[in-house]
Amino acid sequence: MRKAVIPAGGLGTRFLPASKVVPKELLPILDKPMIQYQVEEAAAAGIEDVIVVTSEGKEALERYFARDPALESHLSRSGAAGLLDQVRRTWSTARVSFVRQERPLGLGHAVLTARDAVGDEPFVVMLPDDVIWHSESVTRQMLGVFREYGGSVVAVEEVPTEAVSAYGVVDSVPVAEQVYRVRGLVEKPAPQEAPSNLAVVGRYVFTPDIFDCLERTPPGAKGEVQLTDGMALQLENGPMFAYRFHGARYDGGTPMGLLRAALEIGLKRGDTRDGVRQALRDLPSSP
Ligand code: G1P
Repeated sequence: MRKAVIPAGGLGTRFLPASKVVPKELLPILDKPMIQYQVEEAAAAGIEDVIVVTSEGKEALERYFARDPALESHLSRSGAAGLLDQVRRTWSTARVSFVRQERPLGLGHAVLTARDAVGDEPFVVMLPDDVIWHSESVTRQMLGVFREYGGSVVAVEEVPTEAVSAYGVVDSVPVAEQVYRVRGLVEKPAPQEAPSNLAVVGRYVFTPDIFDCLERTPPGAKGEVQLTDGMALQLENGPMFAYRFHGARYDGGTPMGLLRAALEIGLKRGDTRDGVRQALRDLPSSP
């Protein structure tokens, strides 16, 4: 597995007004932009090429992954070795390239936009809003399932029934510990119509026939071409699996989710743990 696609063309309306100028994928969890977590997760799974799908106005993403020789020599001269290392990681962790989604036609359309860049080989899709913390990269975990079972693999997590309408939801039967065979998928169902409470989380391994399926996918929920609907078509081609991953997922797609991610990841990181604990102790108690 060589390639990962990160769809980053969305408007990020939940982060307005900041997302007027800062792509939401660059908003930090502590000091590190959300998208950097995904690129590091991909690299930890052995993936060398990351294709970022952007849209107009999100050029800062391209600058973020480019080298900045002036900054690097400044950090080098001032002996800031730790910072220099962080800055170098932005371009050295993986080869990052960009394709432009000209119109906001949905997540399925964004993935289809990467077709030429991916070519005719299996690939991974990582949604930057879903930040997953675990000692073993969740993408690496999923590649293990892909190797064992073949067929596309989607990450899932149990969510409360009242929350299912925010997700793609799978209808599935268990086949092994943490692994399910998918029988159907629905994007953002009403709770009473959901086939289960196993919700799709933003990590996928796809066989390349997903592209033909996305070509044939009509607009669905919100009038957009949904990746979930393309996957439902792909089910006709062969088996697909859902994997209940190990790890803590944070919803970086909302300000509250990002705050929570910063607190929890801050408590996990050795260099920030004490500071976050102290800040929490210092909070005035709620009314
Ligand atoms: C997208 C997918 C949905 C998935 C979710 C996970 O929805 O369409 O199937 O469950 O990501 O985060 P979005 O959050 O973009 O509305």
